[in-house]
Amino acid sequence: MPEVEQPLNLQASAPATNGASSGTSILVIDDEAAIRESLEVLLTLEGYTVRLTADGEEGLRVLELENFDLVLLDLALPGQSGIELLPQIRERQPELPVIMITAYGTVDNVVEAVRAGAENFVQKPWDNEKLLADIRSAVARHRAEEENLQLKRTLKQRYNFSNIVGKSEIMLRVFDLVAQVAPSRSTVLIQGESGTGKELIAKAIHSHSPRRDKPFVPINTGAMPSELLESTLFGHVKGAFTSAIASKKGLFEVANGGTLFLDEIATMGTDTQAKILRVLQDRRFMHLGGIQEIQVDVRIIAATNVDLRQAVRDGKFREDLFYRLNVITVDLPPLRSRREDIPLLAQHFLDFYAKENDMAPRKLSADAMRALVDYEWPGNVRELENSIERGVVLSSGPIIGSDLLPGHITGRSFQDALLEHNPNASLFNILEDIERRIIIEKLERCNWNQTDAAEQFHIPLSTLNQKIKRMNIEIRKRGRE
Ligand SMILES: Nc1ncnc2c1ncn2[C@@H]1O[C@H](COP(=O)(O)OP(=O)(O)OP(=O)(O)O)[C@@H](O)[C@H]1O
Ligand SMILES: [Mg+2]
Repeated sequence: MPEVEQPLNLQASAPATNGASSGTSILVIDDEAAIRESLEVLLTLEGYTVRLTADGEEGLRVLELENFDLVLLDLALPGQSGIELLPQIRERQPELPVIMITAYGTVDNVVEAVRAGAENFVQKPWDNEKLLADIRSAVARHRAEEENLQLKRTLKQRYNFSNIVGKSEIMLRVFDLVAQVAPSRSTVLIQGESGTGKELIAKAIHSHSPRRDKPFVPINTGAMPSELLESTLFGHVKGAFTSAIASKKGLFEVANGGTLFLDEIATMGTDTQAKILRVLQDRRFMHLGGIQEIQVDVRIIAATNVDLRQAVRDGKFREDLFYRLNVITVDLPPLRSRREDIPLLAQHFLDFYAKENDMAPRKLSADAMRALVDYEWPGNVRELENSIERGVVLSSGPIIGSDLLPGHITGRSFQDALLEHNPNASLFNILEDIERRIIIEKLERCNWNQTDAAEQFHIPLSTLNQKIKRMNIEIRKRGRE
């Protein structure tokens, strides 16, 4: 193959940067010593770490031992050609960018190389600036893809990421979407029935974004009268309204640099909607009663459990705000349409609540699990979580049977559940089981305050204490939140 004189115009090349190129490693596979040397000088001066190899065999060997960010591959190598080598590189590292170099850059070569998966094509003698620019962009793209891939892997790790559990195809797609949107600043709209995990997803997006060290500020916009909501969001100056005795910062300022989670957005009044729209457009707002504009950098995540499109059609929600919010939509499916997640979620909550109550690990009996998988779950994951928590608290052994699940889930009455749980038990034992359950239920309702429970039962505290001991009822360390 002809020797090619490669000009090394170092003046024209960008100054060596320690930023993007430092720590970036490039593998060169080229049989011509002169080419290898000039690439080494060019790339080293640019801050890259360079590894030179003279043929495909050596190149592949080095590739297996070291990590690279990019390969510069000669097309016309002795033995295996670059085109033949490319699939073998791909096999080892499917995502690694490869730039082909050749003196014989015919159209056919280009087409073939690109088909074989080359990122780009450079002809000898190359233009240093162009080559460096191509390398920079290939490395940057590769890095971004790797980061994204890494995030997706974390998301899918044991189907549990940031405590979001799920293995259904539909939830894995939600994880992917979360991974994709998390790094950006785009507004996200999360739609899903009550209890499907909207807030959990919003937190996951925040905690995987560059804003993770800044505040995540949730606000339930549906639960407040307009004036209070506006002063909470935008803050107010002293005297803005009768009760404004001092000025106050709004949540848009509190969330500056971070994420504001606007929950239950559909029920917000139209005036407030207009103001929110303005902040979304300009990232600016004013305190109520104020005259100064305040600039903020806040990412908005909104959630709704009603169909916002329908709310727009019904004239209850501003169309322009809908489009502003609906940049990226995450639709959280109801639990009944992803039943394969139920066993996984159930075990997740069993582990969580057993641990929280200092209990030994718990498992569900087969028929209890069947009942959970078959149930419709109108309250979605939250309802499942509550049912499991109850079962754990009521349980006295490692296995939680269906009798410890609420009757509307198993379709059985309280009496049926008791008789099935104690098939050959004496009446005395069955009555004791009833007493135990009633005591636990009462304690639950009294936030595990024994004095309150004893009072409500009209029995002395000491009697209740004795029963709790005799029945082996585990007293929860702390009350429910
Ligand atoms: N996939 C999941 N994995 C683990 N826990 C979940 C999952 N989805 C929801 N949860 C749990 O279920 C409960 C309800 O979730 P969350 O509050 O995020 O739902 P939501 O959609 O915001 O509900 P609502 O509309 O009622 O406000 C929380 O305790 C949450 O941790
Ligand atoms: Mg919520």
